[in-house]
Amino acid sequence: MDKGLPLPQDCRDFLHGLRMRGRYALFLVFVVVVCVFIEKENKIISRVSEKLKQIPQALADANGTDPALVLAENASLLSLSELESAFSRLQRRLHNLSLQLGVEPAAESAPWGGSARARRHVLLMASTRTGSSFVGEFFNQQGNVFYLFEPLWHVERTVTFEPGAPSAAHWALVSRDVLQRLLLCDLYSLEHFIRPGPEQHLTPALFRRGSSRALCEEPVCTPFVKRVFEKYHCKERRCGPLNVTLAAQACRRKEHVALKAVRIRQLDSLQPLAEDPRLDLRIIQLVRDPRAVLASRMVAFAGKYATWKKWLAEGQDRLREEEVQRLRGNCESIRLSAELGLRQPTWLRGRYLLVRYEDVARWPLQKAREMYRFAGIPWTAQVEDWIQTNTQAAQDGSGVYSTQKNSSEQFDKWRFSMPFKLAQVVQSACGPAMHLFGYKLVRDADSLTNRSISLLEEHGTFWVT
Ligand SMILES: *[C@@H]1O[C@H](CO)[C@@H](O)[C@H](O)[C@H]1NC(C)=O
Ligand SMILES: *[C@@H]1O[C@H](CO)[C@@H](O)[C@H](O)[C@H]1NC(C)=O
Ligand SMILES: *[C@@H]1O[C@H](CO)[C@@H](O)[C@H](O)[C@H]1NC(C)=O
Ligand SMILES: *[C@@H]1O[C@H](CO)[C@@H](O)[C@H](O)[C@H]1NC(C)=O
Ligand SMILES: *[C@@H]1O[C@H](CO)[C@@H](O)[C@H](O)[C@H]1NC(C)=O
Ligand SMILES: *[C@@H]1O[C@H](CO)[C@@H](O)[C@H](O)[C@H]1NC(C)=O
Repeated sequence: MDKGLPLPQDCRDFLHGLRMRGRYALFLVFVVVVCVFIEKENKIISRVSEKLKQIPQALADANGTDPALVLAENASLLSLSELESAFSRLQRRLHNLSLQLGVEPAAESAPWGGSARARRHVLLMASTRTGSSFVGEFFNQQGNVFYLFEPLWHVERTVTFEPGAPSAAHWALVSRDVLQRLLLCDLYSLEHFIRPGPEQHLTPALFRRGSSRALCEEPVCTPFVKRVFEKYHCKERRCGPLNVTLAAQACRRKEHVALKAVRIRQLDSLQPLAEDPRLDLRIIQLVRDPRAVLASRMVAFAGKYATWKKWLAEGQDRLREEEVQRLRGNCESIRLSAELGLRQPTWLRGRYLLVRYEDVARWPLQKAREMYRFAGIPWTAQVEDWIQTNTQAAQDGSGVYSTQKNSSEQFDKWRFSMPFKLAQVVQSACGPAMHLFGYKLVRDADSLTNRSISLLEEHGTFWVT
């Protein structure tokens, strides 16, 4: 999995060994140069500078005498063969690295170097019913972005975990691993999770293929094959079943990669991706008023929310405690992720952006431009056109996943149909998250439905551009 990361360890082993052997000083210089080259590729130059600082120290200990003589007295010298094996490991790594660079010529690693050609990897992290399909389209519409819609859907459907505590950790590991491979255009990794399994890398079963432009255009769109049923087929044209090899090639040809995922529970599980030298990750966390999210979920996933509906309809006093706990758990995991992101730990610096759906709905162009600036991806007329068309159109009622709606009219519609006691439950379970994101609590049913009362704090520092 971590093809790239062990490199510095090899360098370290090797340098460590050489330090003991002064008479290889020239060789050492060579190795340092090699390591510096590799480190440059791997964005971990700081570790080498540490080593460079230590080397003069080791030589200075010799104080004018031939360092080899001094060092040779150390009885615990690494044997030459150990040095050699460390070096040949290093060579193999080098070889692999150049192979990787050959395969992915666009994988430049200078994150803030401002190179226009740098490949970016955008992860849109959200939860269901937060408008993530809509925001995902902002990236899908850019002709040079390879966009995948909810690839973790397949993972969730096929991987079953033991009930209990470890499952969340397992889920985090598996989903992170799949995301990492997908961002690197290894689409084959998804095949293990597609049911029925692809044959010869051919599948008609990729979830929401039609939501990914790159999978519906030439050359990934192969001639239509009669009698092959594809549930999530391309919208504008009919294509043959998806050839995963062609999809992976298209992914590598595009300048950037973007994924949308509503199934990442914790931001901190993504740290290895942010630190992967092969990726230049940008995480956009999309949040929405949890009252609106619940209202929307009760419509979209009616079966899952049957107990809520019953509670509302039958006028019972109390909702089942586990339902409230689940809601609280969801809100808390979103809040904890956002707090981590806003704290900007070193590994996330410049890589995290928090966005409120309500702001996107009200100022779609401005927020989309902000996301593009953050991601370092060039804005195009195509993106602008799509946003113009799809935020001003009247709703056409084309289903629950419709992205075509008059967004500035839609975003707070939920207020006028939500029973106040439902809003109260959400407020008590999600208070801390609502406070962080600037969603105002309401005290009574009248304030909930009074249009002249805004439920949004506007003075937060992190969502205003
Ligand atoms: C280096 O050698 C000089 C003279 O032999 C001595 O005075 C000095 O303390 C030595 N320095 C170290 C760091 O060993
Ligand atoms: C000898 O090598 C050991 C292990 O690498 C190290 O801990 C020790 O400091 C060395 N001693 C000298 C005199 O360099
Ligand atoms: C180099 O890559 C090959 C094939 O991908 C792999 O089997 C091998 O373990 C790699 N070698 C090193 C040192 O990473
Ligand atoms: C899928 O595409 C690859 C690359 O063009 C091709 O070699 C392969 O034959 C295709 N697979 C099938 C089953 O058509
Ligand atoms: C969308 O909603 C806004 C705000 O209510 C309104 O000004 C605009 O006319 C609407 N546009 C369409 C096409 O319905
Ligand atoms: C709505 O809120 C505004 C501002 O608080 C208030 O002046 C107005 O009377 C309210 N309208 C209704 C119908 O309660």
